Order: sequence, then C-alpha cells, then structure tokens
Amino acid sequence: MTQSFQDLLSELERFGDDNDKTVSERPRRMLNITRDTGEFLSVLIRATLARRVLEIGTSNGYSTLWLASAARAVGGMVTTVECSDYKVNLARRTFDRSDLADHITLVFDDAGRFLERCSDKSFDFLFLDSERTEYPGWWPHLERVLRPGGLLVVDNATSHAEQMAPFIALVETAAKFATSQVPVGNGEFLAVKSNR
Ligand SMILES: C[S@@+](CC[C@H](N)C(=O)[O-])C[C@H]1O[C@@H](n2cnc3c(N)ncnc32)[C@H](O)[C@@H]1O
Repeated sequence: MTQSFQDLLSELERFGDDNDKTVSERPRRMLNITRDTGEFLSVLIRATLARRVLEIGTSNGYSTLWLASAARAVGGMVTTVECSDYKVNLARRTFDRSDLADHITLVFDDAGRFLERCSDKSFDFLFLDSERTEYPGWWPHLERVLRPGGLLVVDNATSHAEQMAPFIALVETAAKFATSQVPVGNGEFLAVKSNR
C-alpha cells in the first residue's frame, strides 16, 4: 500500500468520524465500514481472486477504495451502486483523488433497479452495505447475479442483528449457500455459493 493511499484512507476515516459525530440526519452521514473490515474485504478478494466485484452502498467511497485496491491486485474491478446524488458526488471526488478511478464503475441508481438489469452470474464477489430492510427483496437477484463459487459479504451482521435477521434466515435456508458470521468490525455475514 503506497503512502498516498494510506494518507487518503486515514483522511477519509477522520472525515467520516468527525462528520458522523456531528451530523444526525442519516442521508448526510458517511456510515463507513471500519478499517479492519476494509482489511478483511481486501484479504477475501485477493484470496478468492475475485475480479468482478459489486458493492451496494457506496457512500463517499471509503469501502470502495479497499475493494478496488484488492480487485486491481488480482486484475479485476469494482462496480459500486449508490442512490444518493450527494454521496455520488463525494464518491466521485474520492475516486479522482486515488489512482483507482480506472478500476471503479460508479452507478448512480437504486440498487434494486440496478440488480434487475444485471445478467446471471455476472459477479464473483458481492459486498452489501446499504438499506438493510431492502435485502430480502433483493435476494432473488443477489442469488442470481453471483456466480457459482462466488462470495457474498454483508456488513452490520452484529451491530444491527435484529434488522439483519430476516435476510440471514433467507440465505441460511438457501440450499446452494454455506454461511458464516465473523466478528470483524460491525460483524460480517459471509455466504459462499456452491459450485454445483
Ligand atoms: C452504510 S452506507 C455505505 C457505506 C460505505 N459502504 C462505506 O463503508 O464507505 C449505505 C449507503 O447505501 C445507500 N443506499 C441506501 N439505499 C440504497 C438503494 N436502494 N440503492 C443504492 N444505494 C442505497 C445510502 O445512500 C448510503 O450511502
């Protein structure tokens, strides 16, 4: 990791912390993943050689930088979806300040609408960090767009366990998925899709 990339991550961490301490309206909060979650996502992408990565919930692009840096290391790229124009503008500035812009496609849309347009098996890795009440409704598409052997990671499995319960129950009963919860950051829920 270069010093300038480290510096950008640290600056975004300070900005996110300061902003979220003083701003109470949810649409203006950054709600970034923790640094250890970023490191964990980076290891998962590199270990699984995931080249086609989809993130749902960009915010100002902090988590996207972790995903894109790892995806670039294995010859891949990240598509990230965000429905707030305020956040999309912040994210665009973040990506332009990194050297990862060529490895990121930023989609300004509702994730449900975006998922409907995606082809079957079009992603190797899905990272879900968005509006948790929507996840069960998105599940048929998430399941469809993830390739066999692909990995789904969902943030806030322990910090918002009650909100996550219906979605986790859905995935845990899906025959093609093996699941696990990992106590990293706000709690990560992992589901790998069977190869068969
Ligand atoms: C927890 S924040 C994402 C934080 C980001 N992953 C990070 O760690 O830097 C959730 C984001 O999801 C976005 N969002 C909420 N509902 C959405 C939807 N239906 N489609 C796309 N984005 C959505 C919100 O605007 C918000 O920016």
